[in-house]
Amino acid sequence: MTESITITDNRTGESIEIPITSGGVAADEWEKLLPGIWFYDPAFMTTAAAESAVTFIDGDAGKLEYRGYPIEQLAESSTYLEVAYLLLHGDLPSGAELEAWVHEITYHTFIHENVRKRFLEGFHYDAHPMGILVSAVAALSTFYPEASNIFDDTIRYKQIIRLIAKMPTLAAAAHRFSAGMPFVYPDNSLSFASNFLSMMWKTAEPRFDANPALARAVDVLFILHADHEQNCSTTAMRVVGSSHVDPYSACAAACAALYGPRHGGANEQVIRMLASIGSLDNVPDFIAAVKSGHGRLQGFGHRVYKNYDPRAKIIRKAAYDVFEVTGKNPLLDIALKLEETALADEYFTSRRLYPNVDFYSGLIYQAMGFPMEMFPVLFAIPRTAGWLAHWVEMLAQDTKIARPRQLYVGSPRRDYVPLADR
Ligand code: CMC
Repeated sequence: MTESITITDNRTGESIEIPITSGGVAADEWEKLLPGIWFYDPAFMTTAAAESAVTFIDGDAGKLEYRGYPIEQLAESSTYLEVAYLLLHGDLPSGAELEAWVHEITYHTFIHENVRKRFLEGFHYDAHPMGILVSAVAALSTFYPEASNIFDDTIRYKQIIRLIAKMPTLAAAAHRFSAGMPFVYPDNSLSFASNFLSMMWKTAEPRFDANPALARAVDVLFILHADHEQNCSTTAMRVVGSSHVDPYSACAAACAALYGPRHGGANEQVIRMLASIGSLDNVPDFIAAVKSGHGRLQGFGHRVYKNYDPRAKIIRKAAYDVFEVTGKNPLLDIALKLEETALADEYFTSRRLYPNVDFYSGLIYQAMGFPMEMFPVLFAIPRTAGWLAHWVEMLAQDTKIARPRQLYVGSPRRDYVPLADR
């Protein structure tokens, strides 16, 4: 039996039956019954804006899969570049395909000298690295004008390679600039994560060899952040991309969305919260204050996950691997106590508030020496693969330009009043 719903217009008594397909109902069917009546859904809370085969989330069960592969298995056995291939191509690569992909990415990590010399150096000395990244990604479109040929397969693929490859270079350059340190060129003999750490931390040594445990932790964090279906920045990528602008401009819009504290900035809020709590003794008072409506437990709760965020579990384990090298982040004990206290408290359990990806990620980044301003930048590097996967999918679906309706609540028509008469 086909599942369906029936909607009746009580003004006319007319009905329309609409099939339920893939868990949704097609809105253009409603329009046949209700022309000029729009569905009001400002934050897309109940709107599916895309059919997508990239990422699956079951928020109730706490499940996340990229192209059908559970995130736990990918974090355990894969690498970020293999995951980026998977997201973009739909399947895991063969050995030869992976080798060619890694080679392509590795050999596109350099940025044009003018991006660094003329563009990046034009920023104010204390510029936020995420502000630099947003602008630098947009500026790339002027260095690769052919990128506007988005329906040419070869050209489009080249820009995908360039974007994934150059993000760590731009990210590290943004940090080095805001820290007053000289730019470090990419080292093509290093892995994706090790090369990024080299560009971040290399000083006078001829070659920077990152600690393998730290490089692996960065790679796992990149895997966990590579995609998360129709989140705010991916939606920005799709909406801007639907105008058929080049991918650098669309990606800059996605980066800008990620800059916001509600999206890419929550792990910074977690660190600030843990520092302000200060000691284990203050945890009960802090939880009591949250329950009485004074602030939120940062890093807890999620629009989609109503269970433990599967990424938070993996990050919690990765934190211990990192702390073995860096020494324990002193804020960890406060985080563990907060989690234990909240998960035993009816306020949090009844609202299904669990730790999300941001609860532990900031602790790792901080222990590894990343300044807090770099947290959203660290998020943007791997999410580029997800943004591009959704962009490619959208172009293949021949989607129309994104253009929602509005419910007008302003003044009715009125006549202009000359200035002297107002
Ligand atoms: N601490 C205390 N109470 C909370 C929290 C929290 N972190 N999150 C939600 N609530 C309460 C909220 O007060 C409300 O209670 P009531 O029903 O009594 O009014 C109820 O839970 C539902 O909250 P909501 O704001 O309607 O839920 P939402 O889906 O709109 O918000 C959220 C989701 C992530 C914005 C929110 O949980 C939050 O602000 N969390 C803290 C910030 C944070 O960790 N953000 C990172 C999210 S993960 C990023 C990613 O996936 O990329």
